[in-house]
Amino acid sequence: MRIIHVSAECYPVAKVGGLADVVGALPKYQNRLGANSSVIMPFYNNSFTSEHQFEVIYTSSLTLRNSEYPFDVLKLKDDKQDFDIYFVDEKQHIYKDYVYSSDDTDRFLIFQIAVMDWLLTLKTKPNYIHCHDHHTGLIPFMAQESFKYEKLNKIPVITTIHNAQYQGWFGYENLDKIPQFNLQNIGLLDWNGIINSLAAAIKCAWRVTTVSPNYMEELKENANGLENLLRYESGKCVGVLNGIDAEVWNTETDSFLIENYTKAKVQSGKKANKEWICKEFNLDKSKPLFVFIGRLVGEKGAELLPQVFYESLKERAISILLLGSGFKEIEEGLDNLKTIYPSNYNAYIGYNEKLSHILYAGADFLLMPSRVEPCGLNQMYALRYGTVPIVRSTGGLKDTVTDIKEGGFGFCHNHVSVEDVVEAINRAKDYYNEKPSDFRKNRKTIMNIDHSWEASAKTYIELYKTIK
Ligand code: ADP
Ligand code: GLC
Repeated sequence: MRIIHVSAECYPVAKVGGLADVVGALPKYQNRLGANSSVIMPFYNNSFTSEHQFEVIYTSSLTLRNSEYPFDVLKLKDDKQDFDIYFVDEKQHIYKDYVYSSDDTDRFLIFQIAVMDWLLTLKTKPNYIHCHDHHTGLIPFMAQESFKYEKLNKIPVITTIHNAQYQGWFGYENLDKIPQFNLQNIGLLDWNGIINSLAAAIKCAWRVTTVSPNYMEELKENANGLENLLRYESGKCVGVLNGIDAEVWNTETDSFLIENYTKAKVQSGKKANKEWICKEFNLDKSKPLFVFIGRLVGEKGAELLPQVFYESLKERAISILLLGSGFKEIEEGLDNLKTIYPSNYNAYIGYNEKLSHILYAGADFLLMPSRVEPCGLNQMYALRYGTVPIVRSTGGLKDTVTDIKEGGFGFCHNHVSVEDVVEAINRAKDYYNEKPSDFRKNRKTIMNIDHSWEASAKTYIELYKTIK
């Protein structure tokens, strides 16, 4: 079974968020099940690509309106790689060193057309094309409708929605950039009078998945305008919970950690990582340590955080460290708190992969007050590292975290409000202080929860096989 994943991100080549982690792990675990799974993505000029070698396997050029875009398809030369990674290297360097930007319509149209042009030339074609998010949303449409790609129209295309908030909208003035098709079918591109890449994918893909079962149900009620479409297409839609790469996220071998630890040594291992964090960020190590790791955007409930932290720290009974970046106003609000609570609060504004691993290991609690969370990987990393998640019950968080009150292991709240998050933090703090032996036991319990990719990779393979 040959599968090609088409994605804007893939860890460790280029990562903005969880999409990269998923595309960087799913093919590896599909290959272990005997598949031949690979990835194709844009060639960004970043530190990964400058430090690796590539082989040119295809050279061509495509036209978008009146402009020529010569491109190569490259293959990563790396014996250690668990799956092949291919790249569309556009020669005028529209991909630069960042993944997303304001000219994404053209950047991702060029990427998708180049992928399809290349696939057309392959003697051995993939059995399945697996597209991720709206950046690849026109592939299901082009495969089905564009005259040029008629030879690909028997290959099932699967679309996975990691985030339905972003849909790849663009106006009809760009219609001529899409390879020719029968204009009678133009409605397949349309949603509310505008071209909508994600809607086109939902209409044309052979199967549509979301990254957790609960998120699929939520989308039928609220999908930033696409809820009716998802309800209508529900027969081909299914939610498959993401996994985590338990080899990368392994407390015993994670080379980023200050001290590695087994389940048996979880208390001392976490203590060593916590002490390093508290020293580095000048935090009171005798208090329970709460962390937030993530994009500082509305979807993550990040605009609540300055007020939540301000309220929760009044008694200076906890320590908080934040790692993230995003909206400037939120960043400023978070920075300002540093002077108010110098020994109980700190923030690292930016992206830091190593630090994130140390925080999952050293923290006592991880906060995720998400407004929207299609799956969420942070809570699964936290569980594996013995850190108790405090989450808003939504999307994949609802599928993966049960409240301690209900016989579970985490802290859940229902609303995205300062009061709800503060209350959950207080409950967690009381649990830490008043039930220390339960708290320690719970660490071991959560480390035993298995969210590794094996099961979900298998579910995807079984899903492909249901396509006739
Ligand atoms: P999303 O993709 O919506 O941002 P996920 O929970 O799926 O959310 O995945 C987020 C991923 O990005 C996790 O691997 C998390 O550790 C990582 N991450 C987010 N922000 C940062 C940051 N500032 N520094 C390091 N890693 C980060
Ligand atoms: C998106 C979602 C996140 C999910 C990730 C990987 O970025 O926001 O919840 O975990 O994709 O599927």
